[in-house]
Amino acid sequence: MKRIVILISGRGSNMEAIVQRCAEQGWPAQVAAVVANRAEAQGLQFAAAHGIATAVVDHKAFATREAFETELARVIDGFEPDLLVLAGFMRILGAAFVRHYEGRMLNIHPSLLPAFPGLHTHRRALQAGCKAVGATVHFVTPELDHGPIVMQSVVPVRPGDDEHTLAERVLATEHVIYPQAIRWFVQGKLQLEDGRVSQLDGASQVLI
Ligand code: GRF
Repeated sequence: MKRIVILISGRGSNMEAIVQRCAEQGWPAQVAAVVANRAEAQGLQFAAAHGIATAVVDHKAFATREAFETELARVIDGFEPDLLVLAGFMRILGAAFVRHYEGRMLNIHPSLLPAFPGLHTHRRALQAGCKAVGATVHFVTPELDHGPIVMQSVVPVRPGDDEHTLAERVLATEHVIYPQAIRWFVQGKLQLEDGRVSQLDGASQVLI
């Protein structure tokens, strides 16, 4: 059984989708813990209600990012993860932390990377006149919102869309592609080579 640790900062809807798919589909894995950087992160309640260990490492309690990340890694490693999943975790992580989990840390970002790394992706896509947007699951590298792409979803931009309608449409696809990508990881179906990820069964890595 592979052990998954999920980091959240807030709502945790992607974490919920992962927990549910893992149970329903009988992955060779378990969500060993959900860790938040904010005690108020709503997702912690869902995790606790499902018998999953939870922990909080409050970044505000540390003088430096390095000190925060040292403690965060200590707490995470206590759960012995095979895979670390960032699911709406709103802290930028330093290179030492990222390297420690290299090849076993995934993130989801609500844009078609490499377009629109960073915040306010839907607003920026609308301003740019994009006709399609989406979400990207990728391995985490020290550069923010970069890293080898595991799976993407593509959704249309419709007349009258604003950043909220777009965010909602994209989020529904996040709840499909993130569990799918993680399932492949725990099944050993992902191959990472030269910064590119292939699915060993040839399954489609795009949801349209
Ligand atoms: C998602 O849109 C995700 O792509 C982004 O932050 C949001 C988290 O939502 N990184 P939730 O906490 O999973 O509901």
